[in-house]
Amino acid sequence: MPITYENNTFHLTNNEVSYIFTILENKQLGHLYYGKKIKTKNTDNMLQLRSCVLAPSTFLNNLDFSLEVLKQEYPAYGTGDYRDPAFQLRNSEGNRITNFEYVSHCIYDGKKDIPGLPHTYASSSEATSLEVTLYDSLLDSTLILIYSIFEHTNSIVRSARFINNSKKDIFIERMMSCSVDFYDYDYEMIQLDGAWARERHIHTRKLQYGIQSIASTRGTSSAMHNPFFALKRTHTTENSGEVYGFNFVYSGNFLGQVQVDNYDVSRIMMGIHPFEFEWCLEPGESFHSPEVVMTYSDQGLSGMSQQFHDLYRNNLMRGPYKDKTRPILINNWEATYFQFNEESILNIASKAKGLGVELFVLDDGWFGKRNDDTSSLGDWYENLEKLPNGIKGLASKINDLGLKFGLWFEPEMVNEASNLYLEHPQWAIHSPGRNRSYGRNQFVLDFSNPEVVEHIYQTMYQTISSANIEYIKWDMNRNITEACSLLLPAKKQKEFFHRYILGVYHLYEKLITAFPNILFESCASGGARFDAGMLYYAPQAWTSDDTDAIERLKIQTGTSLVYPLVSMGSHVSGIPNHQVSRKTSLDMRANVAYFGTFGYELDVNRMPIEEQEEVRKQICFFKEHRELIQFGDFYRLEKGERDLYSWMVVSKDKKKAILGCYKVLATPNPALKKVSLQGLHPDYEYSCTNRKGTYYGDELMHCGFQYEIQYTGSRAADNYQGQCHPGIDEGDFNSYIYVLEAIIKDA
Ligand code: DGJ
Repeated sequence: MPITYENNTFHLTNNEVSYIFTILENKQLGHLYYGKKIKTKNTDNMLQLRSCVLAPSTFLNNLDFSLEVLKQEYPAYGTGDYRDPAFQLRNSEGNRITNFEYVSHCIYDGKKDIPGLPHTYASSSEATSLEVTLYDSLLDSTLILIYSIFEHTNSIVRSARFINNSKKDIFIERMMSCSVDFYDYDYEMIQLDGAWARERHIHTRKLQYGIQSIASTRGTSSAMHNPFFALKRTHTTENSGEVYGFNFVYSGNFLGQVQVDNYDVSRIMMGIHPFEFEWCLEPGESFHSPEVVMTYSDQGLSGMSQQFHDLYRNNLMRGPYKDKTRPILINNWEATYFQFNEESILNIASKAKGLGVELFVLDDGWFGKRNDDTSSLGDWYENLEKLPNGIKGLASKINDLGLKFGLWFEPEMVNEASNLYLEHPQWAIHSPGRNRSYGRNQFVLDFSNPEVVEHIYQTMYQTISSANIEYIKWDMNRNITEACSLLLPAKKQKEFFHRYILGVYHLYEKLITAFPNILFESCASGGARFDAGMLYYAPQAWTSDDTDAIERLKIQTGTSLVYPLVSMGSHVSGIPNHQVSRKTSLDMRANVAYFGTFGYELDVNRMPIEEQEEVRKQICFFKEHRELIQFGDFYRLEKGERDLYSWMVVSKDKKKAILGCYKVLATPNPALKKVSLQGLHPDYEYSCTNRKGTYYGDELMHCGFQYEIQYTGSRAADNYQGQCHPGIDEGDFNSYIYVLEAIIKDA
C-alpha cells in the first residue's frame, strides 16, 4: 500500500522513497521525514519535541511543544513559528491568525485533474493520492493538502486548496504549493540561472543561515531563474549520493526558497510568488495552487534527472506526440529573418526536403505588414505581398514537396502599429494615466481578460483551420510591465499575474482541443518559459535563441537536469553564429543538436555541396537513432570540467547507447582522458562505432572509455609543412559521437 495511515501518521512510500507526516497535539500537521524508504513503528524518534529557551509554546506547562522548533507540513505564521510560512490569509477584518486543524483524509488510486492548471496525471496503477482536510472554525474555511506518489518514479506531487465556507471574503496573501522541513542544512543548492541566449546555466551554492531563493516577478517563469532547484549533499555526484529536486508546474511568477533557521533546519518551499499576488476568495469559492513535483534520488543528479524525464514524458506531456519521435524540422528564422517571399521559402523547403528534413516551419514575418519587429503583432492574417497564395497556398506547396508545414505565432502580443491595437488599445496591459513601457517595440495583451483570449482564439482558429498546419511555434517576446486589469475591482487587482497565465493556459487548451494533432513548441525569446507548465500543453520548447554549439553545451546540460531531451528544441545553424559570431564545424553543431529534437535553422541552398551532403548524412544518422535519444535514459558524464562535456543516452533495455564527447578549447599536451560510461549492462559485450573489437559493459563503466587521442603537438611539423592538415580531432571545438550496440549471442 503506497499510502498508509496509522497512529495518526501518514506514510507515502514506493520501492524507493518515504514521505512521512503526522497529526500533532495541536491537530495541525507536523513533518517527520522525507528521503530513502524506511520502515517505522512510531514517531518518537522523528518528532523533535524539545523546549528551547525563549521559544513560544502552544500549551501551558508543555514547553516541548513549540512551533518555533517543530517541523511542520504546511506552516502558518503568527502562532510561534517565525520562519516564512507556507500560507497567509486575511479575513475581512484584517486579522491574519489562523488555525487549520485536521478533520479527515481520503486515499485513492490515481490522481485528480486540476481544472484550468497544468498538472501531472496518472492512471490508478501509476499513482496513489492522499487528500488531508483541515478546517479553521473561526475563519470557517477549509484547507486541503493534496499529495500523489508515483509508483515507478520517486516523485511526489503536491498542491493545496483553500475553500471559503464563510459568508465574507477571505484574502489569500501567500500560498506556497509545498513546504518541507529538513533536519539539517548540510546541503548544496543547485539552481538554473541565466539571461536571454544563456539560459539555465548550472550554479551551486552551499546553504547558509537565512534565506536563499530563486524567483521570477516578470510574468513568465523567465530566463533568469528556472522554477527548479535541488538540494544535494556535498559528496553527491552525477551518479551517486542523495539529491532532492523541486520543480514547479507553472509558467508565471514563482518563488523557490530555502530558509535555514537558527536550529539548522532547512525549510524549502515553492509556489506562486507572494509579491504582487493576492487572491480574494469570495463566499463559497475555492483556490487551487499549481503543483510542485518533488523527486528524491540516491543515485546522484542523473538519477534525479531520469525521474523528472520519465515523469514528464509519461505523466505530463499529452497528445499524439507524447510517445512519438519528433519530426526533423527546418526553420527559416536565421535563414531569412523577416525578408522572405513564397519563392525563397519554397527554395529552402525543397532543398531541405531533398536532404531528408520532414517539417518546414515558417517563423515570424508572415502576417499583417510585418517586415521588422515594429509592427503587426495581433493581426494574424497573411501578408499577401510576401505570400500571394496565402498560408493555405504555401502550406499546400510545402505539403506537395513531401514536408509537413508549421507556423509561428506570438498570440499574447500586440504592436502599437497594428489594426488590433487601433481597434482595442485598452486590451494592451497598461495602468491608466501611466506610460506604457515597450519591450521589443510591443505590448502584452491582457490575457486576464477572457474577451481578449477569445478574440485571439478566433483569429488564430481562422488561420489554422484554413490550411494544413501540423506544427505551431508559440512565441512570447517580452515581460509584463504596468500590470493592471481594467476589469477587476480594486480588491482583486493583485490577482492579475495569475489570471494572466490562466488565460494563456486557457488559450492553449482551446487550441489543442480544436486541433489535437498539431505539435506545439513553446518559446519565449528562446528559453524564457521553458517549464513543466508549458510542457503540459506543448511537448517541446525552443531551448534558447542561442544556437551556438559551444554555448548550447552549457544550456542543454543545464536544461537536462529537469527536462527530457525530447522536449528540447535544438537546431544546427549557420556560421559565424548569429549570437556569438563563433565558427564551429558543421559536425560539431550537429553533434550537439542531436541531443534534442534536432533540426536546422539556415538556408541549405547557401551551403557548399559537400556540406549539403554532410547534412544528408546527419539527418540519416538522426533518423536511425532518435528513438534512443528521445526516449532512452540520459546521463551527463562531464559538465565542462577541463573544458570537456560528454552526454550519453542508453536504451531502456541497455542494448544500445549513444555517446557524445565534446571538447571546447584544445589543451596543449593533454592528459590521457577516459570517461566512465553509465547505464550499460555490465555483462553485455558492446561494439562501438570507430573502434575495433568489443568491450564489456563493466569495463566501459568502471575502467572507462578512452577518448580519441587529442592533438598533442607532436605532429606539428607534418601538419604545417604542407604534408597534411590538422584532423577533425584537433584544435578547439571538437566532438565525437559513438554508437554502442550490445552483441547478444543466441543462447
Ligand atoms: C524569438 C524566438 O526565440 C526566435 O526563434 C524567433 O522566433 C523570433 N522570436 C521571431 O521574432
